[in-house]
Amino acid sequence: MAAENLPLVILTHSLPAEWLTKLEGKCRTVVGPWDATHFDASLEPYLAEAEGLFCLLTIKVDEELLKRAPKLRVVSNMAVGYDNIDVAACTARRIPVGNTPGVLTAATADLTMALLLAAARQIPQASKDAREGRWITWSPAGWLGADLEGTTLGIVGMGKIGRAVAQRAKGFGMKLLYTDIPLPPEIESELGAKRVELPELLRESDFVTLHVPLTPETRGMIGEEQLRMMKPHAILVNTARGPVVQTAALLKALQQNWIGGAALDVTDPEPLPPDHPLYAQPNCLIVPHIGSATRNTRRRMAELACENLLAGLEGRHLPNCVNPEVYAEA
Ligand code: GLV
Repeated sequence: MAAENLPLVILTHSLPAEWLTKLEGKCRTVVGPWDATHFDASLEPYLAEAEGLFCLLTIKVDEELLKRAPKLRVVSNMAVGYDNIDVAACTARRIPVGNTPGVLTAATADLTMALLLAAARQIPQASKDAREGRWITWSPAGWLGADLEGTTLGIVGMGKIGRAVAQRAKGFGMKLLYTDIPLPPEIESELGAKRVELPELLRESDFVTLHVPLTPETRGMIGEEQLRMMKPHAILVNTARGPVVQTAALLKALQQNWIGGAALDVTDPEPLPPDHPLYAQPNCLIVPHIGSATRNTRRRMAELACENLLAGLEGRHLPNCVNPEVYAEA
């Protein structure tokens, strides 16, 4: 097909070219800036003609945007979470929406354990003290942290990532509680995981880690009431979505020592502004949404997003479609 007849795709952000080789010769692309925090104005004139949209989780794809893109035939989100997309509005227009599950499970579970360990063993503070001259001698009572072995990890949400965290935590000798629909009994016994209701999980766990998608049901599910149920030494880890936790309640919990600490890969708002009081909390470790940020994982996410995009443009079923009902007979 002559290049000018290829379908037009909007890539909301510029990405490394070697991640996008699958698109070569298949579509024309217009590309937004790498650091766009919302749909960039420079892309606006292309919406009328665009047949594909390749976006990141920071881009809101809502009715307003869809209205301006009447020819759109596929939305491909380079993320497993898709709370940035109004899926119902896409479905109403019979636009399939793709995401990138599976390829980021291990990387996100690894980061969860890294945060849990870093918070448990006060690694950021100890590292800072060493650099800043406070490592005077081997200090028997200095930088004391918490053990993992024999303690209880509460996993809120036992999907792919929750289970990968469970496997890793089992290796550390932790006892496991979880909330979600029940796992098959053989997986429960392989992991040694016990299903409980959320209040029991919060009361019994030394560490609590969140792995639920952001939905109307999970938004704000960890608030003051839930934080007050946790043990005073317990550490909360969030690598899911920021708004699952109520930020004001978490700040209060950390300031008033209702819990021992928090380790956050995601926040609400996101990014967290540099003057936000959470940064001033010594018992709060914050990293900038890097759960899937390994070289291999991010490349695989981009490739999967390209596969979803091309399938949509070619009228094939998306390999990973979050609204397969678009394929039902009209
Ligand atoms: C990252 O947060 C993702 O949803 O892929």
